[in-house]
Amino acid sequence: MIFYIIIIFVFYVLYRIVLKPLIPLLILKLQFGKEAYLWYAPIWGLLKYNFRSLKQNGDFFDDLRKRMRENPQVKILLTNFLDTPFINFVDSEYIKKMYLEYQNFPKFNLLRYDNLIDKGLLMTEGEEWRFQRTLLGLAFTFEKLKSRIPMINQTVKERCILDPKTNSFDFISWITGEVVIHSFFGEIAKGLTINGKPGQVEIVKLVADIMLQRFKNAYTQIKLMILGNKGWRILATKKEKDINNRVDTLRNTVKQLIETRIQQLKGETEARKEKDKDQCFLDIYLCELLKQQNEGSKKNIDFEPVLQQFLTLFFAGTDTTATMTVTCLVYLAKYPDVQNELLEEIKDLMQDSDVQDTHLPKLVKMNAFINEVFRLRNPAFSPFVRLVQQDMQFLDIKLKKGWMVVQRHDIPVIRNEHFSNPEVFDYKRWLTGQGAIQSDNGFVHIPFGAGGRNCIGQHMAQMELKIILCHIIRKFQVSLNPDVQLKFGIRFLYGAEPDNCLIYKTRR
Ligand code: HEM
Repeated sequence: MIFYIIIIFVFYVLYRIVLKPLIPLLILKLQFGKEAYLWYAPIWGLLKYNFRSLKQNGDFFDDLRKRMRENPQVKILLTNFLDTPFINFVDSEYIKKMYLEYQNFPKFNLLRYDNLIDKGLLMTEGEEWRFQRTLLGLAFTFEKLKSRIPMINQTVKERCILDPKTNSFDFISWITGEVVIHSFFGEIAKGLTINGKPGQVEIVKLVADIMLQRFKNAYTQIKLMILGNKGWRILATKKEKDINNRVDTLRNTVKQLIETRIQQLKGETEARKEKDKDQCFLDIYLCELLKQQNEGSKKNIDFEPVLQQFLTLFFAGTDTTATMTVTCLVYLAKYPDVQNELLEEIKDLMQDSDVQDTHLPKLVKMNAFINEVFRLRNPAFSPFVRLVQQDMQFLDIKLKKGWMVVQRHDIPVIRNEHFSNPEVFDYKRWLTGQGAIQSDNGFVHIPFGAGGRNCIGQHMAQMELKIILCHIIRKFQVSLNPDVQLKFGIRFLYGAEPDNCLIYKTRR
């Protein structure tokens, strides 16, 4: 009897892990021939080959990029994640259609941790998303962004002096984290500490620890697969308990900050509230909620969406901008001539003064440089993975409910169809008036996504990037650390490693 049960169990596991994802992938491969590239691996799927590429070639996506360049006719990459078929769209026509029809593809929460970001702008859908997007849009207007420039200048200058700069990611993410915290909370979050560490350091580390645990620990993986997100708190290991406790402390600390600000706002006059509204995201949110409370449509203010909005903006805005800045610094170190050209542009424009809003559009070379780094090493190599909501015909492919789908930002931009000498780093391609992109349907080079759910923080990110780069290039000569091997790996986003890959020498 036991023998038969074991046999049935083994067959069931084999079916779930191998046949369930592989059969539909094989059917698609037969249907699409050379236009589809099949890259299946039990459980890990594409991740297995990406990690192999990192180990063998020092770059997480090197192997994938080579295969996609050698097979320019490929439109879809067929792989799996655990037991689910996972379709990666690499042709810009599919990418365009998916961005335009985003409502049919709800996002898959990669963090898989409840009560962190699931109620924030990044993850919500439908009417709730529309309400949040409109409200938060008020915090990202040009005028609001402009008012944060002095704070960003100040933060960068301070960290350039105080930071030991032995860990580039910590150096930069301190700045980008501080900018998000300050933009969200204003003055009340000054000197914020969580679990004994500066706020931004702890949140960045906590998110990284959750991702590591979720992707690298088989026990956590299996538990989450069987029990869903509740798996974090059931039969928790020491590491999982530690993460849970840190999440609870973070949530409580942020909740206290929000409560403090509500009390302050309740005691302020309308005129003062209007003035403060210009300053930080939290006030825009709270003023709207207090208004609803006064009008009687809400009895109590619900903390949860506000709290999660902060965590969402922190999650979406800190790591992304920091990883991109470090990648830019790596390219400046690899190409000292380019570093000198940008230094010259900065000096010509502003000598030793702080960056002002009027300088930003005049940083033409820097803009082109950032665009080229985005083209070759975009930290957001794809947007969030999405799920197919119902069986559907999608251009010439039949998608099934529950499959995973994603648009690859990193493949169209390395194909001859769209760029000449696509593998060459050449920022000047963006300076010629003719436009660098060939056969462009508007969805070939989209580092911040596109369509209705594009990045709400893209102008803030570009502004931060330029201000940070201006100060660093002017103050330091940046070079590669000869004692370590530079790699491009994955921490959740795609970026340079190890953290001590750069050396900063003060300029005379
Ligand atoms: C280099 C920096 C950044 C990159 C490359 C980047 C990239 C992206 C991309 C590709 C998306 C679309 C995600 C998807 O559709 O699945 C996105 C969405 C988003 N980003 Fe960014 N981002 C950056 C910086 C920021 C900053 C600084 C903030 C805010 C402080 C921010 C907040 C958001 C939010 C809230 C969304 C969700 C928008 C929505 O769904 O309506 N991002 N970002």
